[in-house]
Amino acid sequence: MPKNIHKIIFPTAGMGTRFLPATKATPKEMLTIVDKPLIQYGVEEALAAGMGEVVMVTGRGKRSIEDHFDISAELESNLNAAGKVELYETVSRIARMVDVAYIRQKQPLGLGHAVLCAAPWVGDECFGVSLADELILPEAGCKGAMQQLRDIHEQTGGASVIGLARVPDDEVNRYGIVKAHDEDGLLRLDDMVEKPQTDQAPSNMAMIGRYIFTPRLFEILKTTKPGKGNEIQLTDAMCQLAKEEPVYGVIIEGARFDAGNPYGFLVANATLGLQHPKYGEALRKALSQLL
Ligand code: G1P
Repeated sequence: MPKNIHKIIFPTAGMGTRFLPATKATPKEMLTIVDKPLIQYGVEEALAAGMGEVVMVTGRGKRSIEDHFDISAELESNLNAAGKVELYETVSRIARMVDVAYIRQKQPLGLGHAVLCAAPWVGDECFGVSLADELILPEAGCKGAMQQLRDIHEQTGGASVIGLARVPDDEVNRYGIVKAHDEDGLLRLDDMVEKPQTDQAPSNMAMIGRYIFTPRLFEILKTTKPGKGNEIQLTDAMCQLAKEEPVYGVIIEGARFDAGNPYGFLVANATLGLQHPKYGEALRKALSQLL
């Protein structure tokens, strides 16, 4: 039985260029879906999978993420004094749900480099990585995305596991795409390509920002050369990892939104807004008048 995974890395230093100008002074991880920032959805998903030791790899202009997970004494005492019990509970719960460590990625050298920045904090154990702009919500009765990875990690005796989704052919150039084969009912990954052209994609199975890795990944990242976009790509290090030890994929069940771009963000807000107990009904009416 592999050891429990407690640690998870959230790379949050990206510049959010797909969402400018909104992300000029606001981290994309702080964009809200209905009333909660993307990063909080990601952290809640990690906590539900038992990954309670969180490190965020941040960069310039990301202080609001730190503030979000910190105690806001003034706000809490104001809400308390005003008798706003429900809001007080909501706000105070965020700071108390998790202890977060922060590491600065001093230069934007790529996702692989961001993950490597957290190596000293993780040490010699298996760990998770989650990209918060990919919002994945469990459907009724299903487990969260990270828990689904964790189940396969345990089933395989502690192997690396990557979250996948099938995407349309004309979207493969937006993702890392994997080549896989069946191994006793599991998807064993042979190769990965970062953002290939449609005619060069080995499949339409895309990596969707959820990963569990063995610590061997860090050793590989130390010598990974810049790849696509002249950045140190996590995908390139994973290719090497898959040559050295088994790496499995799992098609994630759940509702997925690529909320790091305006269209995916709008769909996420519309979907969750319509499902919301407080706003759903009124939003449905307002939208039906527009259509
Ligand atoms: C990153 C990864 C890519 C993955 C994607 C998921 O790309 O490099 O392999 O498919 O996240 O969202 P980014 O969207 O940060 O360019």
